[in-house]
Amino acid sequence: MSDTDIKKGLAGVTVDYTAISKVNPDSNSLLYRGYPVQELAATHSFEAVAYLLWHGELPDDEQLAELRRTERSQRALPEDVKQTIDLLPLTAHPMDVVRTAVSAIGAADEETADASPEADLRKSVRLFAVLPAVVAYDQRRRRGQELIAPRDDLDYSANFLWMTFGELPDEVVRRAFDVSMILYAEHSFNASTFTARVITSTMSDLYSAVVGAVGALKGALHGGANEAVMHIFDDIGSAENVGPWLDDALASKRKVMGFGHRVYKRGDSRVPTMKAALDTLVAHEGAGDLAALYDALESDFVGRKGIYPNLDYPSGPAYHLMGFDTLTFTPLFVAARVTGWTAHIMEQAASNALIRPLSAYNGPDERHVDGYVADT
Ligand code: ACO
Repeated sequence: MSDTDIKKGLAGVTVDYTAISKVNPDSNSLLYRGYPVQELAATHSFEAVAYLLWHGELPDDEQLAELRRTERSQRALPEDVKQTIDLLPLTAHPMDVVRTAVSAIGAADEETADASPEADLRKSVRLFAVLPAVVAYDQRRRRGQELIAPRDDLDYSANFLWMTFGELPDEVVRRAFDVSMILYAEHSFNASTFTARVITSTMSDLYSAVVGAVGALKGALHGGANEAVMHIFDDIGSAENVGPWLDDALASKRKVMGFGHRVYKRGDSRVPTMKAALDTLVAHEGAGDLAALYDALESDFVGRKGIYPNLDYPSGPAYHLMGFDTLTFTPLFVAARVTGWTAHIMEQAASNALIRPLSAYNGPDERHVDGYVADT
């Protein structure tokens, strides 16, 4: 076997079919079940997009109403899950809290072992419905605030913001949040989705696959980048510091988080839609300094390296302007991506093959333990 046979990072390797989304780096497009994601973000709610990912078609009015009824009826944080979260230290990363909460929900769900498509869909909707309460409560407890009960007169995004901040969001904020959820919902065989599919391929359960996916998403090269972008902004401080900061980052070969992508090499197709949502928030919040820093870093880094922003670059500052703590950004990504993960889990289960690649051994040649005498 030669080095060229090794596909490090599985780069360029196609491992299976999927009908859920299509990433096309040449045309710079992302389709969910055939629909361009920017068209969905402009015309549909996150609930409708979740339905599309699970069922393959956009819902009619009655189907959407039914999903909304089910989602609203399962929004409240179960007491046992709250108690589990309360056992975790406030120093725990919120992604560890989300991972633990999903595990606790799975352990308590009587349907966990039922792998029928109907049961998997019910579990998918259950996680979609309850994750906002997990994420919102964890941010609140860190701030020394009480749990806020959901309101079933609000849509998904308005209720998410209500449970987090205890006040009704302005429409500009609600809309920007909903758009971010739609853009984060699905992205083919990214690292966390692939993790979920690997776990599903062993015939493990849906919750175990989502727990694994949360772990994969936490890393700074994947979902953790939206949080890392805000740390970079804090570090740089203001637009005039961008040049020297970048000189230092590039000289010490540090990655600039929020830029680059394994698949898109000429720009991430989701960025223009999220940047437009960020612009509305900047205008709404009067955040000109942050916008100036954003533009300065983008133009300097793209100019020097030709590496373009990914979705985490505009979404990090957008979540900051909405009022979320930086540590909460990646859990927001979980709440969105759970729709794509669960769609992939169901797709994998429907035409399963155990995912088990090969490796090329490069350890010591065969050798033997001193004093060992084989039985004769
Ligand atoms: N900052 C500085 N240099 C970069 C960056 C970056 N953000 N991204 C890529 N490069 C450079 C690498 O250093 C490397 O240079 P070299 O050839 O001189 O060694 C070259 O570009 C290729 O980079 P790789 O990391 O090998 O390419 P890969 O396809 O594996 O990278 C990745 C994709 C991991 C996303 C990378 O661009 C990165 O680390 N970005 C920062 C983290 C980030 O924003 N992740 C979010 C991903 S999108 C999402 O989850 C929504």
